[in-house]
Amino acid sequence: MIIKGDIIYTTEKGSFKQIPSGYIGTADGRVTFAGAEIPEAFRNESVTDYSGRLVMPGFCDLHTHAPQYENIGRGMDLTLLPWLETLTFPTESRYGERDYAEKRYRRAVADVIRQGTTRAVFFATTHLNSTQMLIDMMEEAGLCGLAGKVNMDQNCPGYLVEDTDVSLAETRAFAEKNKDNVHVKPIVSPRFAPSCTPRLLKGLGELAAEYDLPIQSHINENMDEINWVAELFPEAQNYADVYRQNGLLNSQTLMAHCIHMKPEETRMFVENGVMAVHCPHSNANIASGMMPVKAMMAAGMRVGLGTDFSGGNAVSILKTMVLALQVSKLRYQMHPEEGFLKLSEAFFLGTKGGGSFFGKVGSFEEGYAFDALVVDDSALNREGGNDLEDRLSRFIYAGDDRNIVQRYIDGKPVAVPDWD
Ligand code: GUN
Ligand code: FE
Repeated sequence: MIIKGDIIYTTEKGSFKQIPSGYIGTADGRVTFAGAEIPEAFRNESVTDYSGRLVMPGFCDLHTHAPQYENIGRGMDLTLLPWLETLTFPTESRYGERDYAEKRYRRAVADVIRQGTTRAVFFATTHLNSTQMLIDMMEEAGLCGLAGKVNMDQNCPGYLVEDTDVSLAETRAFAEKNKDNVHVKPIVSPRFAPSCTPRLLKGLGELAAEYDLPIQSHINENMDEINWVAELFPEAQNYADVYRQNGLLNSQTLMAHCIHMKPEETRMFVENGVMAVHCPHSNANIASGMMPVKAMMAAGMRVGLGTDFSGGNAVSILKTMVLALQVSKLRYQMHPEEGFLKLSEAFFLGTKGGGSFFGKVGSFEEGYAFDALVVDDSALNREGGNDLEDRLSRFIYAGDDRNIVQRYIDGKPVAVPDWD
């Protein structure tokens, strides 16, 4: 398959690669070439013509909560811990009911695809059955990514708390059932250190190693949370050390937030290849703080973007890129030495940077999975300019899902599911 269009992507964070009226070839879901001409060897392949449209990599949302989709826009006067207790835990407790969960997961998955996300990493709930339903639904819709059964065996309401052995046994069953999945894989998902006993954390670290699974959790989001972790885990040197001691910090780990990191925690993340997930909407809404994203990148930390609904109120990584840029520029006033995020850097974080968590994802270089969006920006570009970076900038800042006219995931066209 060959696609023709105004192609723009990032191979590195500092600049865009632009191919006006260019071509991308794909075979078996992977990019075979991207260039201004069709190479000789591919001349007999048919061309799908998107002339005049922007063609860009699809977006990677590395951290969000499928069951919280129904809460977007609620509870925004609260900070993290009361927000969890009063809004989030009661909602998540309902996902043991099959019909309740199915209807709402369908809405969430459809909207994530609609907004241009081609790879998503979800937290589900503690419930094994509906978490499996979420994986199956993503597969059915054609959305690639990861989903995890949440683990929590302490410091949460009685109606959600898990028995440690049951939590581990169910996570093992979940890993076993999904271990050969191709498009939507399981991810080990201890909610965050306060909700997990040391025995649960240790068991999950061992399980992740045994099944070679990725891991996700939250860290250093809020000062009350950080102080609480210090009380709960007095032997640990710091918050990150709680995860490290239990085998949960490695190059397959995603850690959401990373706002209030100690220098030694940042070093630990860099040394272990952990990827930090920047979730600016959530950080603003529940008053958590401003992640020093530029300083983290300068320290050599791997960084991606997450919507983190419903702490976050956006489902779109476009909106997340914009707020990441804005927060970084606000931070710059107090920390000019950090510099501020540039457009190509924010785009990189939402595509190739975050995509690297999945392997060769988020770019149009040869061998990359062909995840792409075709964007009709004519309504945003009434002056008819043809500078691709300028057109992309307008789409990022002023566009939305209505401009997306086609989505490809892993080489296949994917429609927004018509489920509701
Ligand atoms: N920390 C633990 N659980 C959560 C959650 O659901 N959302 C956010 N933003 N932070 C958390
Ligand atoms: Fe989260």
